[in-house]
Amino acid sequence: MTDMNNQSIKAGALMAGLLLLAGSTQAQDAAGGANDPYFYDNFLFWSLAALGGVVIIAAIAALFHLLNVMVKVNQIRIFQEMGIEAYQEEVSKQREPFWDRMYKKWTDAVPVEKEQDVMLDHNYDGIKELDNSLPPWWVAMFYITIGFAVVYMTYYHFTDKGPGSAEEYEMEMERAEKAIQAFLATQANLVDETNVTALTDADALASGQSIFNANCAACHGMLGEGGVGPNLTDAYWIHGGDVKDVFKTVKYGVPEKGMIAWKSQLSAADMHKVSSYILTLVGTNPPNAKEPQGDLYEPQAETTQPESTEAEGADENALGMNE
Ligand code: HEC
Repeated sequence: MTDMNNQSIKAGALMAGLLLLAGSTQAQDAAGGANDPYFYDNFLFWSLAALGGVVIIAAIAALFHLLNVMVKVNQIRIFQEMGIEAYQEEVSKQREPFWDRMYKKWTDAVPVEKEQDVMLDHNYDGIKELDNSLPPWWVAMFYITIGFAVVYMTYYHFTDKGPGSAEEYEMEMERAEKAIQAFLATQANLVDETNVTALTDADALASGQSIFNANCAACHGMLGEGGVGPNLTDAYWIHGGDVKDVFKTVKYGVPEKGMIAWKSQLSAADMHKVSSYILTLVGTNPPNAKEPQGDLYEPQAETTQPESTEAEGADENALGMNE
């Protein structure tokens, strides 16, 4: 193994490492979680890209090795044909370290101090032209960008692998929508008897109804007409008819009277929905209604004075909580 060959192997290993690193960070970028629809596509793409990079680097290393062998063969030929002196001269040319030679090669342009050498003979009002060559590193970058553009175009525009901007927009919106829903869900569960207001949204009331049918109808009747539990459709309430009162009754129950505390079985959002639903039953006059129990509760929409009709269990939370 010669210096040169070792160098090229080191360089190859370095490049392979960088490429793998780039590939893996990209894969992590793409890992908006496995629920990102393009996660596996991206992962596959970058794995293949990294693999391709390794193959290319291996090929380059092999070519360097071959080149090295050819140089040796040439030196031996010189030795055989022209003797030891020519051989030594040839070998000494090789002495310049690989990276130095590479650096020279890749920045091979005539320096400013020598620009006279490459000055063309025309001169337009002091504007002159140099016949200098572009440094190879620049030219290489230029071709790399062209190659990249082709790969990029193909990936994003001619295959359905990479998402286009429109698709990306859709995905982003979907993600945002999910985030909004998640946020609202946490908000919905923050509701308690001090801040609850009656829901009017049809979806919420419909799910309130199904919660009622599943959990409450057994005691309060399918229509809220009452049974074991009191009639929920009249204007009379034992524990208060404000949404905050109802929510509180549902949440903490009245265990000694047979009304379950629902807080361990229903989420705050569900108790919110079912309480709101119950309030829509008021005034529906279902058949077989149970006789009123408790005190008349009048919604206090217009007044700011709390109604103090609750005899027992008067709920301090109802005070001044008019909507
Ligand atoms: C096991 C039977 C039973 C079930 C199931 C039940 N309740 Fe009750 N509920 C009662 C009883 C009994 C009372 C009366 C408590 C009292 O007399 O203080 C009551 C009272 C209430 C009150 C207060 C009524 C008032 O006049 O102040 C509300 C509101 C209520 N229940 C809602 C619900 C909701 C909502 C559910 C379902 C999530 C439910 N209940 C499930 C038995 C039940």
